[in-house]
Amino acid sequence: MSPFPYQQSAQLPQNPLPVVSIGLGGIVHDAHYPAYAIAGFDVIGGFDIDAERAKMMQEKFALPALYTSLEHAIAEAPANAVFDIAVPGVAIAGILRELPRGTAALIQKPMGDDLAQAQNILKICHERELTAAINFQLRFAPFIIAARDIIERGLLGALTDIEFRVQVNTPWHLWSFLFPLPRVEILYHSIHYVDLIRSFCGTPESVYAKTLSHPTAPELRGGTRSMIIMDYGDNPRVNVMTNHNHAYGAEKQQSYVKFEGEKGAIQIRAGLNMNYPTGLPDRFEYVLLEGQAAPSWQTLDIEGSWFPEAFIGTMASLMRYVNGEAAALPTAVEDAIQTMATVEAAYASSAHGGTPLPAV
Ligand SMILES: NC(=O)c1ccc[n+]([C@@H]2O[C@H](COP(=O)([O-])OP(=O)(O)OC[C@H]3O[C@@H](n4cnc5c(N)ncnc54)[C@H](O)[C@@H]3O)[C@@H](O)[C@H]2O)c1
Repeated sequence: MSPFPYQQSAQLPQNPLPVVSIGLGGIVHDAHYPAYAIAGFDVIGGFDIDAERAKMMQEKFALPALYTSLEHAIAEAPANAVFDIAVPGVAIAGILRELPRGTAALIQKPMGDDLAQAQNILKICHERELTAAINFQLRFAPFIIAARDIIERGLLGALTDIEFRVQVNTPWHLWSFLFPLPRVEILYHSIHYVDLIRSFCGTPESVYAKTLSHPTAPELRGGTRSMIIMDYGDNPRVNVMTNHNHAYGAEKQQSYVKFEGEKGAIQIRAGLNMNYPTGLPDRFEYVLLEGQAAPSWQTLDIEGSWFPEAFIGTMASLMRYVNGEAAALPTAVEDAIQTMATVEAAYASSAHGGTPLPAV
């Protein structure tokens, strides 16, 4: 029996399916393969357009096979393989178009570089009859599984407030493909928070947002700082505040998500952002109000973190759905398109600007 009272790990498939990787870059190295090793998922081979990179990954993770092309990977894949696609957003559609009809695919976020690309990806998934999910793995971080368990048991009561606050110094140079893109911070980072909030509150009615670059990093013109209000009417209040240019040492860095409800609250430090990709320790704190007693915050020990354990959950949920072990696929492309629509609205709001002040 778990030493902790709350659920904090994803449900694994009874019969894991073989995994074929398309794209063997940084995130596969840092998170996908370490997670699959923990979960016992077999990666049977992979393909990357960068043959040297592919060779390094094969040696490091003892991949049984390297394929010389996408066609080669598809030809060698068994019928029940799950394709694990981790390439820049713009490359996703071309890969999906080639997959055999009826295949299962897990696609790294974002679902294309804008809503139009997301709609095209959704259309291809339907045309090819793919069972496809987007890798919005924050939903399966152990600290989020625990928070969801506490919230779904009703211990916080109705949610009144959700806030993400990230004030860190992010090493954007790790993702050179982001530099020329017009959309970066919300599309590639805050999208995790937008998606997570949707998984608790549903799709918002509207969005207010402003996203901007930083004078010290003008080459990242797609923005490194964002403010997003997801509008759920009178309740809950929801906002996402990120500043990736806090270059003033570790002392005042912040990275947390906070849930407040009528009967209690949870605040989780997501340490990964604070020294990415090594990270600082997470911290899970919660308080349950009891009558007139003074609120008393508790800490909950959580096993595992966002990297790599959360990546078990997205792959496990797809395998379980394909196997018929689960009735729903939480991050299915049909759901993820709503996260992309929310992101699109955030960029539209940012471009539109605020309300001009009346003349005085
Ligand atoms: N927490 C997260 O979910 C998370 C974190 C980091 C990156 N990502 C996402 O993962 C994706 C990849 O990011 P990364 O950090 O690994 O980048 P990366 O640049 O390190 O790796 C991308 C890899 O894809 C390969 N590639 C590009 N086009 C290809 C194609 N058509 N076929 C096969 N291989 C191809 C490249 O050669 C490269 O090795 C991005 O979309 C990014 O948004 C997600």
